[in-house]
Amino acid sequence: MLRRVGLAKRVLTTNRHYSTRFGYAHSRCLVFSDFGQPEKVLKWVASPPLCMNPIEGVYPEKPEFTLELGTGGKSAVPGNEGLVEIVSCGSKVNPSIRPGQWAIMSGPNFGTWRTYAQAREANLIMIPDKEGISPVQAATISVNPSTAYRMLNDFAGLEPGDYFVQNAANSGVGRSAIQIGRLWGLKSINIVRDRPGIQKLKEELRSLGGTEVITEAEAKDRRSMAKMTGGQPVKLALNCVGGESATNLARILGQNGHLVTYGAMSKLPFSVPASALIFKNIHCHGFWISAWSKGNEAVKSQMIIDILGWIRDGKFRDIPYEITKWSEATGLETLMEPVKRGISEYSGRKGIFLMEDD
Ligand SMILES: NC(=O)c1ccc[n+]([C@@H]2O[C@H](COP(=O)([O-])OP(=O)(O)OC[C@H]3O[C@@H](n4cnc5c(N)ncnc54)[C@H](OP(=O)(O)O)[C@@H]3O)[C@@H](O)[C@H]2O)c1
Repeated sequence: MLRRVGLAKRVLTTNRHYSTRFGYAHSRCLVFSDFGQPEKVLKWVASPPLCMNPIEGVYPEKPEFTLELGTGGKSAVPGNEGLVEIVSCGSKVNPSIRPGQWAIMSGPNFGTWRTYAQAREANLIMIPDKEGISPVQAATISVNPSTAYRMLNDFAGLEPGDYFVQNAANSGVGRSAIQIGRLWGLKSINIVRDRPGIQKLKEELRSLGGTEVITEAEAKDRRSMAKMTGGQPVKLALNCVGGESATNLARILGQNGHLVTYGAMSKLPFSVPASALIFKNIHCHGFWISAWSKGNEAVKSQMIIDILGWIRDGKFRDIPYEITKWSEATGLETLMEPVKRGISEYSGRKGIFLMEDD
């Protein structure tokens, strides 16, 4: 699964007044009217008005299908995440918000796969200073880096020098966790699946700040794991995979450790050994950034400022990504290309739509 990130060039911030300098905003968007395989349900509309999971309908929080997009039947625009540029504000909008400023979405289901949108202030988090930040960096901050930040900060009371362990360490969230961990003085054990060229991947993740990078098979060797940490307990485990990999994380955790599940890439359930629960007092949690974001708006804004600061100071590296340019002339075929690729294979790169003027 590959999440697509929409990068809307423009957004309007109120429903009171939304004309641009041309008198109106003409938006092109991808829409869907039913949940299902993205390549089957996505349609192309040009009217006033890349995570695949919301389109597949597998997230509990679903977008609302509406007639407001001017489509024949009810439909919704996909795209949870992205960066927008303000083009126009209504008279009642906070005067500190001005055209030219950047903003990201405050919650899920904004519908970023479109060239223009109309939004309320509450739907956006303003980027206070875009100096030194690329549009792609800002567009990809609110899910993966934010998830990693919260999981490292909120569950195990980690202190500098403490160990955490994670599987799928080469994922977007995993790469963020490695870097935030390094910035906070944490030591990380990073587990990845074996592959041709594994040494190159190991070196890359170490260069981000990973203390140890090992394969799933190496992570099962209890003796070498204990040697690796010098007997220090591992206090937190981040589980993106499930199945056997997650069970092994529970085994690696030390006394009173915390296992936080945020993904299920293998689509397999997992078991936690009774001994880990009874004798080691392991705590199991789930984390979902969308649910956390509700009611934590102020904390989220501060977290975004922290992450932007690291990016600006060159302390936080981009995730690997590939861009599909989207202008007025772009056809459905071109836009569906990365969507189809994202479903059939994991390329190791995030797909990003970049809206451009013709
Ligand atoms: N709960 C939340 O709030 C939250 C927030 C962000 C993301 N997520 C979830 O976290 C997961 C990762 O997201 P991401 O954007 O970081 O992912 P990503 O960058 O697309 O990376 C996907 C990762 O999953 C691994 N993977 C793929 N198929 C696998 C399988 N069958 N078994 C084991 N590993 C597999 C890949 O490893 P290989 O290189 O070995 O294929 C890669 O490390 C997704 O499920 C996403 O929905 C959850």
